[in-house]
Amino acid sequence: MPTLNEIRSTFLDFFRRNDHEIVPSSPLVPRNDPTLMFTNSGMVQFKNLFTGVEHRDYTRASTSQKCVRAGGKHNDLDNVGYTARHHTFFEMLGNFSFGDYFKEQAICYAWDLLTKDFGIDKSKLLVTVYHTDEEAAEIWKKYAGLPEDRIIRIATDDNFWSMGATGPCGPCTEIFYDHGPDIWGGPPGSPEEDGDRFIEIWNLVFMQNERFEDGTQRDLDMQSIDTGMGLERIGALLQGKHDNYDTDLMRSLIEASANATDGSPDGPGNVHHRVIADHLRSTSFLIADGVMPSNEGRGYVLRRIMRRAMRHAHLLGAQDPVMHRLVPSLVSQMGQAFPELGRAQALITETLELEETRFKQTLDRGLRLLNDELEKLPEGSPLPGASAFKLYDTYGFPLDLTQDALRERGREVDLPGFDAAMAEQKAKARAAWSGSGEAADSTVWFDIAETHGTTDFLGYDTEVAEGQILALVRGGAQVDRAAEGETVQIVLNQTPFYAESGGQVGDSGWLRTETAVAKITDTKKVAGVFIHFAEIEGGEIVKGTPAQLEVDHGRRSAIRANHSATHLLHEALRHALGDHVAQRGSLNAPDRLRFDFSHAKALTGEEVAQVEADVNAYIRQNAPVETRIMAPDDARELGAQALFGEKYGDEVRVVSMGIDPASGKGMDGKTYSIELCGGTHVRQTGDIGLFVAIGESASSSGVRRIEALTGEAARKHLSLKERQLAEVAQELKAQPADVLDRLRALLDERRALSNEVAQLRRELAMGGGATSGPEAKDVGGIKFLAQVLPGVSGKELPPLIDEMKAKLGSGAVLLIGEADGKVAVAAGVTKDLTDAHSAVDLVKAVVAELGGKGGGGRPDMAQGGAKDASNADAAIAAAERVLGG
Ligand code: ALA
Repeated sequence: MPTLNEIRSTFLDFFRRNDHEIVPSSPLVPRNDPTLMFTNSGMVQFKNLFTGVEHRDYTRASTSQKCVRAGGKHNDLDNVGYTARHHTFFEMLGNFSFGDYFKEQAICYAWDLLTKDFGIDKSKLLVTVYHTDEEAAEIWKKYAGLPEDRIIRIATDDNFWSMGATGPCGPCTEIFYDHGPDIWGGPPGSPEEDGDRFIEIWNLVFMQNERFEDGTQRDLDMQSIDTGMGLERIGALLQGKHDNYDTDLMRSLIEASANATDGSPDGPGNVHHRVIADHLRSTSFLIADGVMPSNEGRGYVLRRIMRRAMRHAHLLGAQDPVMHRLVPSLVSQMGQAFPELGRAQALITETLELEETRFKQTLDRGLRLLNDELEKLPEGSPLPGASAFKLYDTYGFPLDLTQDALRERGREVDLPGFDAAMAEQKAKARAAWSGSGEAADSTVWFDIAETHGTTDFLGYDTEVAEGQILALVRGGAQVDRAAEGETVQIVLNQTPFYAESGGQVGDSGWLRTETAVAKITDTKKVAGVFIHFAEIEGGEIVKGTPAQLEVDHGRRSAIRANHSATHLLHEALRHALGDHVAQRGSLNAPDRLRFDFSHAKALTGEEVAQVEADVNAYIRQNAPVETRIMAPDDARELGAQALFGEKYGDEVRVVSMGIDPASGKGMDGKTYSIELCGGTHVRQTGDIGLFVAIGESASSSGVRRIEALTGEAARKHLSLKERQLAEVAQELKAQPADVLDRLRALLDERRALSNEVAQLRRELAMGGGATSGPEAKDVGGIKFLAQVLPGVSGKELPPLIDEMKAKLGSGAVLLIGEADGKVAVAAGVTKDLTDAHSAVDLVKAVVAELGGKGGGGRPDMAQGGAKDASNADAAIAAAERVLGG
């Protein structure tokens, strides 16, 4: 009996042999389709190949695609566990042709694989075709030899497959297996078709049309093939089982659930184990693909599935969390085919355990409330909407969980009442918001949030995605279209663009629709709505249409490196300076990073060097950067740095990096840096490349600031410095290594030379050297000596005045120095004459004559400054007049 893993291999091997490219399953969160909540069939990742928008280097492919159907249109959640063939998670086996083979070949492949490789009895098979598709009916007759009564023509949409309201589509042919008359049911199209006798096993779609929003349809340029066969169904058939949950893979998960709880897979708890087994698969795969439990969008669907499973574990009497203990069984069953499961094992385990621990805390109280309410109600009457809402709002019971709990007692929820209670709460929240004094135009974002919900952020995992344009805002008001040259803000249902927060700047990049191209210059968020600031470069953007979003990769990579480096810097500062270091602000831009932190005094050069060396050591360690979601208290217990005064929700994102055996932090006690952070980060610390601190300064009192560069910016900075040093060395005619010595020697030499020059000037002024000094003149009976000294500065004048006064014995001295574009005046009067004459008067008179102002000092020595010495003769004459000459 082949296992499910073997059946998957047989399928893929068959198509590999027939020249198909084996393509890995795409993630459960569709990258290229904003209209879908989760990937729900194999063709999703190939959607644009069918319409001819995208081309790859193969025209035939085969996959085993992970699919989730829960939430949205295909919602199987309520039935799962209670029926033989409903799942929230399943694998769809498929083969695809993109303009390569068409109907005939597709039918031949399917028939050969089923009847030869899988060895299914031909006489048990029958098919349906679209009522107008005689060509398909003929091929079935000719190739498979099916008689007319086993080819059933169906006129409904059951045999015209489309992914949704829009997109590629076409007629299909479905292959059924007849389990024989012992089981109740009729062939497809008959009134008893819902019975279990005839089971559909494979759907072959002949892709040849495309549907548009307005209901119109066109013929595709090429004819293609899309097929889908549920692995669990074909598995059950090949293993001789009637129930998908009896296949080897599902059975092993059911047994694991039984082992972890009541020990009996087939006892009265059977349905609970089935629910747990199914939900374990969908929740684990969703977490592995980046979905985290939350109260919005995809995260909320995940939470609903998780909590439904957890309630069933509770019904089994489990006291402690169960789900996370089953992860190893799942990984051993499916980890080989889906390696992402093993890679995310720790994250899956922790997320499940946290959710179950927290849910258990409210589950008992919530169930008690439910029981009390039910007791008060007349037999069989529905649970009032307000009670169901209270369970939802206060105890975290998703509506379907309450419905599931009631179903066992044959009761329902008053749904209109529930909706009314929900609407009332939203109205209250809005009223509170309007009063909060937010920016004037913020109500438009709130309107958008209310109508469309918050934006789903995909940017932790991808930089390219498709989104649906939900709103266009121009000048604070919503518009339906915007044209070339206009600046608008665009809101989509999902986006890979990071919106500015936590010090990380918003992403920029491009947005393209079928009709337009826009540059996204920035991204911000208000009320959970991501606002893309766009400049339309060509065409017209229309609300309600899909758009391709592409983040500027180079810019985002640089931002990522700076953000991760900031975390390492924070930790390195704590190591170098002490635990008082706490973040006070940060900027993570593409070209630089800035980190403000509490510390009272300037860092020394050695401290900065130490921090820089530490950060670089952790970069070279190239350790993985890990992200987890936790309760805030658990995160703090692990030693996570949180922003002081910041409010955190029920869950926080925890980013950790680096290995330090002495740290005592983290799950392993060896994590270097752990921070609560919503930003985007590098995968490995080595991706940061290089870290260079370029500035240390005061930001405000008690807060220091470090500015730094990473990666290419850091390399450029160092390379520029290197070049400058080389130029300096060349100028100094020294080797770069000798520059400092050479510079010191030059400065010493310069000092000696300027001393020498000063000395020579003094000697010159005093009449030393070759020339004889100036002669003193008799002015009104006083010896007066006046001289202009080019090249002599103000500070050199006083000693000269002293020397000259000494030389005169009794008299007055005036010196006018001229250096560096400045004119300095100094005068001296010997003590014996200061009663009658003041040096201050002399200086003032001279300064005024030379275009300056003021001047001052003592009667025996005064100084002043002026502008222009060309009038020196007149100035000296003015001094003589002061002396009474
Ligand atoms: N895309 C087709 C389906 O999901 C094959 O049934």
